[in-house]
Amino acid sequence: MAKSTEKKKTQLKSPSPAKARAAAKSRLVVVSNRVPDIKDGRVQAGGLAVALEEALQQDGGLWFGWSGKVGNNHPTEPEITKVGPITYVTLDLMRKDYNEYYNGFANRVLWPLFHYRLDLTNFQREHFTRYLQVNDMFATRLSQHLKPSDRIWVHDYHLIPLGECLRRRGAKQTMGIFLHTPFPALEVMASLPTHRALMTALCAYDLIGFQTENDRRAFADYVVHEAGGKVSKTGRVEVLGRKLRIGVFPVGITPGHFEGPIAAPKEIAWGRKLKERYGDKAWLIGVDRLDYSKGISQRLRAFERLLERYPGYRGEVTFFQITPPSRGEVAEYKQLRAHLAAEAGHINGRFADIDWVPINYINKSYSRDRLALFYRASRVGLVTPLRDGMNLVAKEFVAAQNPSDPGVLVLSRFAGAARELNAALIVNPFDTDDVAEAIAQGLEMPLEERRRRREAMMEVIRRNDLVAWRMGYLAALAAAGKRR
Ligand code: UDP
Ligand code: G6P
Repeated sequence: MAKSTEKKKTQLKSPSPAKARAAAKSRLVVVSNRVPDIKDGRVQAGGLAVALEEALQQDGGLWFGWSGKVGNNHPTEPEITKVGPITYVTLDLMRKDYNEYYNGFANRVLWPLFHYRLDLTNFQREHFTRYLQVNDMFATRLSQHLKPSDRIWVHDYHLIPLGECLRRRGAKQTMGIFLHTPFPALEVMASLPTHRALMTALCAYDLIGFQTENDRRAFADYVVHEAGGKVSKTGRVEVLGRKLRIGVFPVGITPGHFEGPIAAPKEIAWGRKLKERYGDKAWLIGVDRLDYSKGISQRLRAFERLLERYPGYRGEVTFFQITPPSRGEVAEYKQLRAHLAAEAGHINGRFADIDWVPINYINKSYSRDRLALFYRASRVGLVTPLRDGMNLVAKEFVAAQNPSDPGVLVLSRFAGAARELNAALIVNPFDTDDVAEAIAQGLEMPLEERRRRREAMMEVIRRNDLVAWRMGYLAALAAAGKRR
């Protein structure tokens, strides 16, 4: 279990109403690489997208970023869509930007590096140059829409240099970034040939938000031991000629979205059909983008080990692994896709019988309501990433459980969520036997213990919900801006 001192540090206090009011005075500008699809005037899916949209709905604001479309090699004008109080300004990426900025540097260098997969990084100096150029282009386009009193909230590793690019253009606004990924240990970060330029750019923001104390500590370590800077106990940083603040803001969910009964008759009918087909088995569930950081291969092997070690579960337990494909043009993701399909096929071939297939390996994505039904019907939720910034699925699984007969969460110690959800069965995802053992423990756990563990986790999930995350970050951003 995670240490209780760490748990304390990550618990957010609700900001005072005065601070929240101060933060709400100016317009909020959200910038993320990917701007979610808007259908019927609302963001459709994804915990984070919904949270940011809620923030913008409240006071109005602007959301800037990539449309998700890839054009040819001619720059196009941004598309401006106004939906209620929110203005969406989106850009298509030119093919070469998509290849080199998004696939090349963001997803073949920063993503693996931040997830401790040095072996999968593929650094090419031209891709770093393109990464800087696209950030600069974003800054140019965004500048045209900014007002002097705006607050700018940038998200994630794609846009680390954006703040510096905006400052170079004379932007005086308060600017913060939140990193949804882990922040890597000093020695891992230092292996990036351009780490100093990247870190200097990162420090141009007034506030850097991290998911966990671990990530904050890794950043502080770099500041002090690599860059010769200073970090105070209260999160003041002086380094590389810059002054900024850092803080820990664990991203949460809106538990109500998963706790309540599913109202839509279509969903209820779908759930019933599923139950008729598989209801006599105990369900295990995994829900992850098809990504090597999620430990899906190791998880499949742990399930195989469970069936080897405990033959009594054969024919009795069904594992649903829901894995929507992601970043499919990146070589490592393509290879992983082929590998996982082969692995699931191998295990099914080895253990399946005429009336039972052990693994339902599914490469499509489901709506939130359908996921909630899956979560609730499962006896064990398997969230076993090798490294993850937070992992919202862990929180969603717990929230969706029936309080009087809840399922059990098996959670990797390397997910940010493990800092808060220390009442889960915490495992080392690299240890196949440990995970197999935890699955068996989850399947056999007495009702009283399941209830106790879920209630403990719900307390944290309710306290550190999405509103607390957003308000906590924005209050800290306002304070950081004032100091500057
Ligand atoms: N998700 C979804 N449909 C799916 C699979 C996932 O809506 O079929 C959502 C899931 O409910 C969660 C998010 O995608 O809110 C994944 O977030 P997480 O933090 O677990 O991982 P990430 O993909 O951001 O690395
Ligand atoms: C993670 C990252 C996000 C990213 C999402 C989906 O959650 O932290 O920044 O948007 O994965 O990945 P994609 O590459 O499809 O945007």
